Amino acid sequence: MIVVTGGIKGGSGKTTIATHLAIMRAYDNKDVLLVDADDQETSFDFSSLRASSDEDLRSYTCIKLSGKAIRSEILKLQSKYDDIIVDAGGRDTVNQRAALSIANMLIVPFIPRSFDLWTLDAVAAIVEEIKQINPLLQSYAFLNRADLRGYDNLEARELLREKENIKMYDVVICNRKAFGNAASEGKAVHEVKNSDPKAIAEMQNLYKNVFNK
Ligand SMILES: Nc1ncnc2c1ncn2[C@@H]1O[C@H](COP(=O)(O)OP(=O)(O)OP(=O)(O)O)[C@@H](O)[C@H]1O
Ligand SMILES: [Mg+2]
Repeated sequence: MIVVTGGIKGGSGKTTIATHLAIMRAYDNKDVLLVDADDQETSFDFSSLRASSDEDLRSYTCIKLSGKAIRSEILKLQSKYDDIIVDAGGRDTVNQRAALSIANMLIVPFIPRSFDLWTLDAVAAIVEEIKQINPLLQSYAFLNRADLRGYDNLEARELLREKENIKMYDVVICNRKAFGNAASEGKAVHEVKNSDPKAIAEMQNLYKNVFNK
């Protein structure tokens, strides 16, 4: 399966989600390719940090790709991996469109805040365009960096539910320090000492939804 983390908002958690899915898939004994298609190269830097760890961490392959090579290289590599996860960055770029043209699934994290949710229409428009060339593309939204409580989450979910071509996962990942802490060690939230069970459960819920488990 080719899964793209995308959208057109910076800082929504695309890299956090892409790296977690790659790691969790590796724990499920899948051979995973993580493609960093964002010129910021954060997924690649994270993966390099992880690979240099002294600990015996589950591994996956990470490469950087840009422009049209995203499409052509992934098509060539597709049969060599069980799953390919693409961190497409947070703008409507050639990179994101190239990735979406061959993806099975787009997943879009949304922070439940107005500025983020206002991009929903634009994301839906991109999905509609891409579907002309990749009609099987499935698109899903979910909340990330959500408040631990309050009405914003509910309101945001109502809004996300409205789009016909973007389905909503029943997934809410809250704003938890555990995510930043784990990232600084090149790890997923379940791999750190004194791990946060809620962060782990929320990420696992997303994983189950994406990989239909
Ligand atoms: N659920 C969360 N709780 C707390 N912090 C989070 C969560 N998800 C992501 N973060 C933090 O928010 C920041 C942005 O996350 P991340 O880099 O994954 O977003 P991004 O969408 O890839 O950003 P960019 O658009 O710059 O590529 C990081 O510092 C990350 O550790
Ligand atoms: Mg990123």
